[in-house]
Amino acid sequence: MSQLRELDTYQRYLRQLFHADDEELQRLQAEAEAAGLPPISIGPEQGKFLQVLIVLTRARKVLEIGTLGGYSGAWMARALPPDGRLISLELEEPHAAFARRQWAQMGLEGKCQVRIGPALETLPHLADEAPFDLVFIDADKENYPAYLEWAITYSRPGTVIVGDNVALGGRLVDPESREEAWVQGMRRFVERLSQDPRLISTVVPYPDGLALAVVR
Ligand code: SAH
Ligand code: DHB
Ligand code: MG
Repeated sequence: MSQLRELDTYQRYLRQLFHADDEELQRLQAEAEAAGLPPISIGPEQGKFLQVLIVLTRARKVLEIGTLGGYSGAWMARALPPDGRLISLELEEPHAAFARRQWAQMGLEGKCQVRIGPALETLPHLADEAPFDLVFIDADKENYPAYLEWAITYSRPGTVIVGDNVALGGRLVDPESREEAWVQGMRRFVERLSQDPRLISTVVPYPDGLALAVVR
């Protein structure tokens, strides 16, 4: 599943109270593992946090970059109103096909769409769907700075931008990892996020660093 594989007693207690996966989400994760998808989805902690953000902002249109098996998408789509829409961008056709099947089994197919291709190629075609109320960035880390620009392009005042994996499991601030493309991309992303006058932003230090910004 996620970065939080090893839960301490407190985290287990909170998970059981607030955000344990229900049967459908457990099935999705089990089938994702059986299908050989990489175990890199968000955890239920972030899923529930995204739901809180969606309801808090009364989001109706959500853009996700990085679908994988549709786990984060399912959490978000469930929190959307009946006329809400999730558009999720995914490079790998098998991931997209898996996510579509899962969303259909969960009755979420009417709310969720996946667009296949490198996100930098699919993003320019979304102008008609904009503005988005929330954008969740969770794909290849070297392109996070470019994804941030697209998120702002497709925003309105109040749009929430969320980015997963700021800490990169500790590599973000590890001098030995400085040359890695992912580390450099993530550093540029958080530096821009922290300085961009169009945004008010922070990083929630949990579980792997969740960047959180609101467009002014
Ligand atoms: N949000 C998902 C996890 C996404 S993992 C969840 O929490 O359930 C990252 C995904 O981004 C992978 O499926 C990977 O194939 C996809 N990806 C990687 N590079 C990409 C690119 N350039 N464009 C679109 N998707 C990409
Ligand atoms: C990895 C983890 C992620 O959450 C992600 O979005 C992409 C990759 C990883 O650990 O490789
Ligand atoms: Mg991630």
